[in-house]
Amino acid sequence: MIVLGIETSCDETAVSIVSGRKVLSEKIYSQEVHAKYGGVVPELASRDHIKKLFPLTREAFSDAGLAPQDIEGVAVSAGPGLPGALLVGTTFAKGLATALNIPIIAINHLEGHIFIIRLLYDLPTPFLALLVSGGHTELVLVKEWGEYDVLGTTRDDAAGEAFDKAAKALGLPYPGGPSIEKLAKKGNPKAFEFPRAMLKSGDLDFSFSGLKTALINMLRKLKKNEVENRLADIAASFQEAVVDSLIVKLADAVKLTGTKNVALVGGVAANERLREKVSELGVKLYAPPKKYCTDNATMIACAGEFYLEKGVSSPLTFSIKPNWGLQ
Ligand code: KG4
Ligand code: ZN
Repeated sequence: MIVLGIETSCDETAVSIVSGRKVLSEKIYSQEVHAKYGGVVPELASRDHIKKLFPLTREAFSDAGLAPQDIEGVAVSAGPGLPGALLVGTTFAKGLATALNIPIIAINHLEGHIFIIRLLYDLPTPFLALLVSGGHTELVLVKEWGEYDVLGTTRDDAAGEAFDKAAKALGLPYPGGPSIEKLAKKGNPKAFEFPRAMLKSGDLDFSFSGLKTALINMLRKLKKNEVENRLADIAASFQEAVVDSLIVKLADAVKLTGTKNVALVGGVAANERLREKVSELGVKLYAPPKKYCTDNATMIACAGEFYLEKGVSSPLTFSIKPNWGLQ
């Protein structure tokens, strides 16, 4: 089935065409307007989506050598995400589905992140997915495609948010994850002590806000030139603390479920130190190439194809769900 996927939940405008779990074309525009604000500005995100969605869709058709009439279904990210940004994508998708008289499916963005695994690997269910992004940190047992047990989640900040906030405090560019990772490569992860929260909480939840506070307190105590000279050590120590906090709970989940197959998805899954430490757990790691860790429309089209092929679709009256969870 030829499915067009649309992703506009945050600051990536993306359109992909997928068929038979193969990518026919994929277009993505990462909005640059937010960099100078050190974070995503919702209104600017919506405006950029409006500007870019139509030309990207046109390019996606031309790259695939297809006409709009060749598309058999539309899949669109309907949440969680920024309300205005989601409205742009879903309204556009509804218009397309109506004009072409084809089914539409509202896709949960988090489920999309997991579905990229189905495109890339023949991974049997059940498996564990650690979904770590700018807005979410979820430890999920994928019982079957479409059936999830959320084993743990963050009590406060998401893992990516911790990287983004730390980078801001350190004067590094947004998004913070890649900036911190780049610096961390030259630093000593044991140079500074950061807390690993929730280690003995008795559940599989995470917490990252204490880590951010610890960094801010530490920066207050250091002299400006000390911070400048030891930026790489600070970045490496901070990254190590985020990664360790994730790894401890992942290891517990592996033990608890007896599942040895682990998928790492979401923007933070691009982090090489995290990948390295997951591999050290003795599990089989499925980590997508970086372009499929961060937001993209291929994952949405892929989830859409799965549901539409089963005959599952959404009514044209569906609403966006800015706080849509996985269960
Ligand atoms: O999945 P994503 O593109 O958007 C959301 O759904 O949130 O994830 C973006 C997040 C940002 O917080 C960014 O700092 C983080 O992923 N990120 C990374 C890396 N690349 C992106 N964090 C750590 N290391 C990276 N290499
Ligand atoms: Zn995402």
